[in-house]
Amino acid sequence: MLKGKHIILGVTGSIAAYKAATIIRGLVKKGAEVQVVITPAGKEFITPLTLSTLSRNPVISEFFSNRDGTWNSHVDLGLWADAMLIAPATAATIGKMANGIADNMLITTYLSCKAPVFVAPAMDLDMYAHQATQQNLDRLRSFGNRIIEPGEGELASQLIGKGRMEDPEVIIACLHDFFAAQQDLIDKKVLITAGPTHEKIDPVRFIGNYSSGKMGFALAEACARRGAEVFLVAGPTALRTEHPRITQFDVESAEEMYQKALSLFPQMDAALLCAAVADYRPESSAEEKIKRESTGDMILHLVPNKDIAASLGKQKREGQVLGGFALETQDGMSHAQDKLKRKNLDFIVLNSLEDQGAGFRHDTNKITIIDRTGEVTDYPLKNKTEVAVDIVNKLVEQLK
Ligand code: PMT
Repeated sequence: MLKGKHIILGVTGSIAAYKAATIIRGLVKKGAEVQVVITPAGKEFITPLTLSTLSRNPVISEFFSNRDGTWNSHVDLGLWADAMLIAPATAATIGKMANGIADNMLITTYLSCKAPVFVAPAMDLDMYAHQATQQNLDRLRSFGNRIIEPGEGELASQLIGKGRMEDPEVIIACLHDFFAAQQDLIDKKVLITAGPTHEKIDPVRFIGNYSSGKMGFALAEACARRGAEVFLVAGPTALRTEHPRITQFDVESAEEMYQKALSLFPQMDAALLCAAVADYRPESSAEEKIKRESTGDMILHLVPNKDIAASLGKQKREGQVLGGFALETQDGMSHAQDKLKRKNLDFIVLNSLEDQGAGFRHDTNKITIIDRTGEVTDYPLKNKTEVAVDIVNKLVEQLK
């Protein structure tokens, strides 16, 4: 369950910080990628060197690297994470989290984090029992954070009571169980098309479009995180994925994408067609570079490409779910509804270039999902990672 998961581990200034080393070892052993963010007080209890050696990643503590001035983006980190775990969490950090006091890298990351947050408190029994701490913990619960209750036993003060951070094995088991419950695409195979296609004119030129592949790759990652085996057919893009459950097939032209998608589809449970497939290609491409001097005016004769979505819509068998996209510049809703019907899709994701920050190349998108029952759901502008989650939620609903 933890294989390939991105976990932010927040370490704060508690004697229990030494247990963070065991947590990292356990998570890494199970295949998770761990990024440690430590508070200044945390560094008094355990060295960043220990944590970076075990996590195999540099430990983040400051907003800027003192060495080269690079900016540590808490926003990017928050989006990268599948979960954030704060262990140990002191009374001070819990108080800052509850009240949004963003005076260190850990708290800014927490405030930017879209992923589920787990908090493992560690403190003396009276501090833990104090109303202030309990109210702060209740506040965190009301934000949806999950509190891993401390155990009872002998504390660093030698007093006996509740406040000892839960054992690393139990904390890891909490994360494991959480991800197990999230695996609603386990045993499902999902085909995803992404990126542009390039239609060759001659050895140095092509007809293409502005698709970066970001939306399609975000979808692939979102499906894989929820347990699906993903078959990603990608047009020319610089993007790569390292998720162990994603198999990437690189293609160039619409015809190659069509061949690959059609050969894969019969074994799939679902397909999400996010690629910006060229509708036309040159009837023929020149063997050698076309020379301006010898050609003068040039007329390209274009012929239509096959429609992958419509072909899959025709082949679709009972139980398979087909989701498509509509990229529009005007009358988005009516064009999307038309494509939904014409291509026999189960739902369509409308994104319009009329909306700021939506469509090609941006890290964000603004979508409306329309399904075949006519249900229409609008979403606000979000990062493509979050947009992908909304689309996958729709896919899961349709697969049921
Ligand atoms: O890659 P990014 O930079 O992140 O940008 C994302 C995106 C804008 C490309 C993406 O969100 C998107 O809208 N993809 C679909 C773009 C598109 O070609 O839309 P369309 O309205 O022309 O096509 C409708 C549907 O038919 C799409 O699902 C498309 O994949 C599919 N199609 C189209 C033509 C064709 N020959 N075969 C197809 O399968």
